[in-house]
Amino acid sequence: MQNIAVIYHSAHGHTEHIARTIAASARSVAHTDVQLLQAEELATAPERLLPFDGYILGSPTYLGGVSAPVKAFMDATGPLWRSQQLRGRLAAGFTVSALPAGDKQSTLLSMFVFCMQHGMLWIGNPILPEQHLGVPYDEAANRLGSWSGLMAQAEKASTPDFFVPGDIRTATLFGRHFAETLQRLGSRGARAHSPEAAR
Ligand SMILES: Cc1cc2nc3c(=O)[nH]c(=O)nc-3n(C[C@H](O)[C@H](O)[C@H](O)COP(=O)(O)O)c2cc1C
Repeated sequence: MQNIAVIYHSAHGHTEHIARTIAASARSVAHTDVQLLQAEELATAPERLLPFDGYILGSPTYLGGVSAPVKAFMDATGPLWRSQQLRGRLAAGFTVSALPAGDKQSTLLSMFVFCMQHGMLWIGNPILPEQHLGVPYDEAANRLGSWSGLMAQAEKASTPDFFVPGDIRTATLFGRHFAETLQRLGSRGARAHSPEAAR
């Protein structure tokens, strides 16, 4: 069994909706258990990360970066960084913002750097944008063209469960890809770690 934590903050429900979509898709992969964890709760108990084999981080993009609760969670993992206890585990990231670009890339980059400092293995979003295959733009997977992680757009006035079908499809493919990759590589990564290797 491989265990995945989907860690997220969401003030108005949009990021949570994508987190739940990713989690449901990852859970559909055999021998995979997925838990949704709020960044705010983990910030006070970062040791809760330890039982998991893989992490999918999610944040709304705020002013071109992760939101404050996600940053607080990241900063709370300092002791785990010092002992490199998360080394070798798989990680990926996703972000939701209002604008088509909206500087989402820098949010994903800050997640990537965080995971690299912990010695994790970054899993991207290898989905070819389907609009190039003739699929209507709003229905196309990876329509926003992000390979370093998942991007989704929530228009300013949209309800939390409103995303165009393409972004929901992207989240579904992204969650499945992460879980399948973890099935192939996970036990050799996460569980092979020894603290000595961190020195
Ligand atoms: C303080 C703040 C900063 C924001 N900065 C950006 C931004 O840089 N780019 C963008 O496209 N949207 C930005 N937004 C919009 C949010 O990313 C968007 O509303 C998102 O869907 C919120 O996710 P949530 O519903 O999970 O909280 C910002 C919103 C807030 C409140």
